Amino acid sequence: MENVVVLIVGAGPAGLATAACLSQFSIPYVLVERESCSASLWRNRAYDRLKLHLAKEFCELPHMSYPVDAPTYIPKTLFVNYLDDYIERFNIQPKYLTSVESSTYDNDKKCWCIVAHDMAKSKIVKFTAKFLVVASGENSAENIPMIPGLQSFSGDVIHSSSYKSGKSYSGMNVLVVGSGNSGMEIAYDLAAHGANTSIVIRSPIHVMTKELIRLGMTIAHHLPLNLVDNILVMVANLIFGDLSRHGITRPKMGPMILKSKTGRSAVIDVGTVGLIKKGIIKVYGSISKIMGNIVEFQCSKNISFDAIVFATGYKSTTNTWLKDGESMLNGNGLPIKEYPSHWKGEKGLYCAGLARRGLAGIAADAKNIANDIKSVIGTMSS
Ligand SMILES: Cc1cc2nc3c(=O)[nH]c(=O)nc-3n(C[C@H](O)[C@H](O)[C@H](O)COP(=O)(O)OP(=O)(O)OC[C@H]3O[C@@H](n4cnc5c(N)ncnc54)[C@H](O)[C@@H]3O)c2cc1C
Ligand SMILES: *[C@@H]1O[C@H](CO)[C@@H](O)[C@H](O)[C@H]1NC(C)=O
Ligand SMILES: *[C@@H]1O[C@H](CO)[C@@H](O)[C@H](O)[C@H]1NC(C)=O
Repeated sequence: MENVVVLIVGAGPAGLATAACLSQFSIPYVLVERESCSASLWRNRAYDRLKLHLAKEFCELPHMSYPVDAPTYIPKTLFVNYLDDYIERFNIQPKYLTSVESSTYDNDKKCWCIVAHDMAKSKIVKFTAKFLVVASGENSAENIPMIPGLQSFSGDVIHSSSYKSGKSYSGMNVLVVGSGNSGMEIAYDLAAHGANTSIVIRSPIHVMTKELIRLGMTIAHHLPLNLVDNILVMVANLIFGDLSRHGITRPKMGPMILKSKTGRSAVIDVGTVGLIKKGIIKVYGSISKIMGNIVEFQCSKNISFDAIVFATGYKSTTNTWLKDGESMLNGNGLPIKEYPSHWKGEKGLYCAGLARRGLAGIAADAKNIANDIKSVIGTMSS
């Protein structure tokens, strides 16, 4: 049994940022991570051509900037290098291969009791902690929708987190399901590698350029969001034209308000829209069922595919191990309270990176958590 002041679960950007902020106050912590490396999402579960979608000024972790010569949109490998430098700068030493299996609050001892599996030594390790920080991510488990007949599909089925590049799909008929940033970019990558590519777009999306989003985020400091949204939609419509005949319509809510109200991001076009307009990438609506290699769409077309890539997002798995977390998280393992007060529960419980606000949200959460823990410790010792 190890007694620690703060236990942080997860060594992704959120856990690392929290660790750095705590170390600035010399508050001792232990950081546990189930994988054998930090930021496994970025190292092992992201496609090759991925760049940060947002400009670098919106993607910094606390207390360390990107090198001045870094490109505006940081490629994946550079982001991983930045995280490695961050770990070195703040001397962060995660306990790897340590997966938290349960965490309960002990009302008598007034502390959290955490049980974890040390996978290297195949044994159970236990911690008690005054403060518990949930930084296990919104992207913990793959989400693949239940589609009737999916088990009968005779081709390859993968989730976007296993997709690396379109190289191995050249010449194949591939269906991408999901039209968020990952799905739209993977469709582009497949087509660029010579796959006959189709994409399912079920709901309205805001297609934007990365420069427009950067502009929007910058002027949002000075102008009301609905005005910013009107400008963005007007300019985007000029750039992309009316896409409704290609199966793409805009949500009623503007892109910035939609993001802040629901967490749903605009889609930053990487060239996919151009290929859709040319008919190189085909757009379909909902799937009704799958039989062997045939996918039946609700528009009643039957089309045969060799592979399906599900870019249908993730789900949180926090609820499988966090007991007594009702003060902070709902049944889906996501914060109950709205931003900006989502990061704090009761009895020394916190979360970083669960408000669907990307790296900027993570940076804010980490600072808030460290400041709060510092003030609680200050009151305890005085
Ligand atoms: C493809 C993609 C692109 C993105 N691009 C951007 C972008 O451009 N800009 C931006 O701001 N945001 C972006 N995001 C969103 C967000 O910034 C990233 O998802 C970021 O990695 C989230 O960091 P995190 O630390 O919260 O979660 P994660 O990176 O998922 O880290 C959580 C860690 O917790 C570990 N863990 C989970 N459960 C346990 C357990 N029980 N015990 C121990 N360890 C556990 C996991 O192994 C993981 O290492 C992107 C997300 C994705 C998926
Ligand atoms: C490409 O895919 C479409 C389905 O979107 C299909 O109708 C077409 O026949 C395919 N082309 C080839 C050459 O297989
Ligand atoms: C698609 O396939 C199903 C099952 O074989 C069949 O019932 C349906 O009529 C087909 N639809 C079209 C448009 O061919």
